[in-house]
Amino acid sequence: MHYTTLGRTGLRVSVAGLGCGGFSRLGLGTGQSEDHAVGIIRQAMDLGVNLIDTAAVYGTEDVVGKALRGVDRDAVVVCTKASKPAGDATFTVASILDSLDGSLKRLGVDYVDVFQLHAVPPAAYPFVRDEIAPALLREREKGKFRFLGITETAPNDPEQHMLNRALPDGMWDTAMVAFHLMDQVARTQVFPHTLAHKVGTLMMFAVRSIFARPAQLAAAMRDLAATGQVPTWLAESDDPLGFLVHGDGGATSLTDAAYRYVRHEPGVDVVLFGTGDAGHLRANINSILRPALPEADRAKLAELFSHLRGVGLEAPPRRRQP
Ligand SMILES: NC(=O)c1ccc[n+]([C@@H]2O[C@H](COP(=O)([O-])OP(=O)(O)OC[C@H]3O[C@@H](n4cnc5c(N)ncnc54)[C@H](OP(=O)(O)O)[C@@H]3O)[C@@H](O)[C@H]2O)c1
Repeated sequence: MHYTTLGRTGLRVSVAGLGCGGFSRLGLGTGQSEDHAVGIIRQAMDLGVNLIDTAAVYGTEDVVGKALRGVDRDAVVVCTKASKPAGDATFTVASILDSLDGSLKRLGVDYVDVFQLHAVPPAAYPFVRDEIAPALLREREKGKFRFLGITETAPNDPEQHMLNRALPDGMWDTAMVAFHLMDQVARTQVFPHTLAHKVGTLMMFAVRSIFARPAQLAAAMRDLAATGQVPTWLAESDDPLGFLVHGDGGATSLTDAAYRYVRHEPGVDVVLFGTGDAGHLRANINSILRPALPEADRAKLAELFSHLRGVGLEAPPRRRQP
């Protein structure tokens, strides 16, 4: 494993972080057992992963708590989140403070390392900054968490207005950011701010579903070509990004390309990967530890996709539970 410093938190963290949400939720999202999910977390830790990201809303805090039993608390960086209720409801101070206390109980810890406001839409940001953050900082004084973070709602904020506005405000120690091969907006909207203010960065959506499902990628290319956003040759192939897979330091697979692409972007600290599959777990860590994609491939990806907005952020079609 390689380790880095998570911005101004000073925490030493593995460059590969285990995401306990996404569509897999450690396998719970595809019908695997809690024991299986605990096993995924333990295997990640055995491979040197020391940053675990969960959220009250994921339903995985209990299994993270089980996996952490008997583990030296100082050896792991536990990140969790509190959300606004679903639908049109807004954030409230009381529900966020309740969520923090609930997370501590479910995780079975005295404190979390990074407590994050989850999926904050631009319109909610002023309330989050003026009411919720001050209330949370008072909870930090009680020792309930060490650092305050914020995460975006990428499908609803593809231009990343919320993070662009929030990061200079000074209270956010970490930011969770969407960034991938075909969504390069953060390079101009977010990373200049995180670098200037030493905000630690956690990347989500490196693979998401678009790079895990070849048919979804091919369909997205056809839609983009039909509206003139990408060249037509990309829509004529079942494997439009196959040019990234080659010898001479090229990628070994599309998911390998996707994780390596994100890992080596200047401004990236931790690449989160979400999986319920032990084989994917090992493959993804190996990819995150490999060198950057060749410069010619990175240049081609910038030329082809850096103008795109909001691509590949959505959820996949719902899978039936076995
Ligand atoms: N707003 C927010 O705060 C927010 C939103 C979303 C996510 N997140 C965080 O970011 C983390 C990452 O989420 P993500 O959805 O973006 O995950 P991701 O790592 O980009 O993609 C995970 C998806 O790709 C599949 N996959 C992973 N490795 C693979 C491989 N080697 N080959 C083929 N398929 C593979 C997984 O299924 P398998 O189980 O089959 O591997 C899963 O469906 C989450 O767990 C969560 O911690 C935060």
